[in-house]
Order: sequence, then structure tokens, then C-alpha cells
Amino acid sequence: MARRKIIAGNWKMNMTPSQAVELCNTLKDLVVTDEADVVYCVPAIDIIPVVEAVKGTNVEVGAENMYFEDKGAYTGEICASMLVDAGVKYVIIGHSERRDYFRECDCLLNKKVKKALEAGLTPILCCGESLEQREMGVTMDWIRLQIKSDLVGVTADQVKGMVIAYEPIWAIGTGKTATTQQAQEVCKGIRDCIAEIYDTDTAEAVRIQYGGSVNAGNAAELFAQPDIDGGLVGGASLKADFGKIVNYK
Ligand code: 13P
Repeated sequence: MARRKIIAGNWKMNMTPSQAVELCNTLKDLVVTDEADVVYCVPAIDIIPVVEAVKGTNVEVGAENMYFEDKGAYTGEICASMLVDAGVKYVIIGHSERRDYFRECDCLLNKKVKKALEAGLTPILCCGESLEQREMGVTMDWIRLQIKSDLVGVTADQVKGMVIAYEPIWAIGTGKTATTQQAQEVCKGIRDCIAEIYDTDTAEAVRIQYGGSVNAGNAAELFAQPDIDGGLVGGASLKADFGKIVNYK
């Protein structure tokens, strides 16, 4: 069975609650499609107004992060059940900005992935290499290590429902997109890695996105690749252009 595309915006630390509602209204008619799942991953404070603003549309809401504990003395954190109760369906886990700026390691990310799944959220698990790693020729070794570590203890059935986002760090926010061939090669490498850890059914089911300077001009070619099941879009998800990315065909 063909995998359904999933195109998600990652708003990062942009949009106040009122700007968020305005953006939802601007995008409302532009992101309508029957062919792909459309998700806005938004700052925690925007979740409640955005869930309200997209009610009755084809858009689902995601969080950009969460903590793995159920509740308690973790000042500043947000747990999975809070997200679920607020109407969130997806959660980005292990974005390179979280890994780099906030020192999130694979051991922590593995706990977050498991908790998100247990709570019924769909994790969008991010992975990707730095420019130095690509130049050293260790891209796939690095990504395989990330994927294997982040999925310890996760079952095949759980992985089938997950989303993995391949985001080369050097392509994020730089305007320097990976070539279609580079993106396809790594997304296929990730699928092969899932087949090794689990089985081919699981590998064929898991959805793998590309992220890193996706825009209205390059989306069609990227998303046409056999192992690229959509995109995780930063900057271009904050503009009307996101409608063109969603309707890339
Ligand atoms: P840009 O699309 O702005 O390069 O960001 C990609 C990204 O990090 C999405 O998570």
C-alpha cells in the first residue's frame, strides 16, 4: 500500500498566540488537500489557540517538544498527557536544535519517543548529520546510530505509525537544500536501517520526511522520490507558500 504523504510545518520559536491564529486563517484555504496529512507543529503557548483555529479543517496540530515524565517537579516542562488533552496529535522529538542548543542526547530522546507513543501521540523523530560529518563520509553511520538508539524498546507496530524526519543540519535555515539525490539516498538508508532492526513490513510502513530549506520550488521534486514521504518545513511554513508546498503536485 502506498504511504500517505505527510507535510508538517515546524514553526520553531515564531508566532505569538494572536499571530498564530492569524497565520492559521491566512493558510486555511491554501492548505486544503485530500492527498497528504497536514500538520502545524507550534510553540507550546500557541497550541490551544491553534487547535481552536484549525477546528473543522484538514490540519492537525503538533508540539515541538515534550518531556518524558508523567508529571511533577519539572519546572518549565510539558508532558505528553497535557498535549493529548489539548488536542495535539504529533510531537517533534530530537530536532537538531534541541540536540545542539539544549544538549538532548539519544538516551533522553528514546525516553521521549516511548512516552509519546504510550500516550497516543505520533512522534516525528528527527535525525541528521552536520556538514563536518558529511564531509568525513560518516553520514549514514551517524544517522543509523541516532535511529537505533532512539528506537530502543520501541515495537515494530509502534514504528509503523511513526514519522522520521531526515534533516541534514547544514540544510536547515541556510537556503542550501540537500540535492534530491542526497535526500533520497539518506531516506532510503533510514528505511533500510528500519528493515534491519525490524522487518520489511515495518520499513515499508514508516513515513520518512525530508527537512532543510524545503520551499515551493523544490518540494515537488523532493516529494516525488520513492523514499521521501513528505517534508518537515521550517521558514516556508510561516508564509502563504506553505499552501504551495502542501499542494506540490
Ligand atoms: P528550514 O525549512 O527553515 O530550513 O527548517 C527546517 C527545519 O528545521 C524543520 O524542522
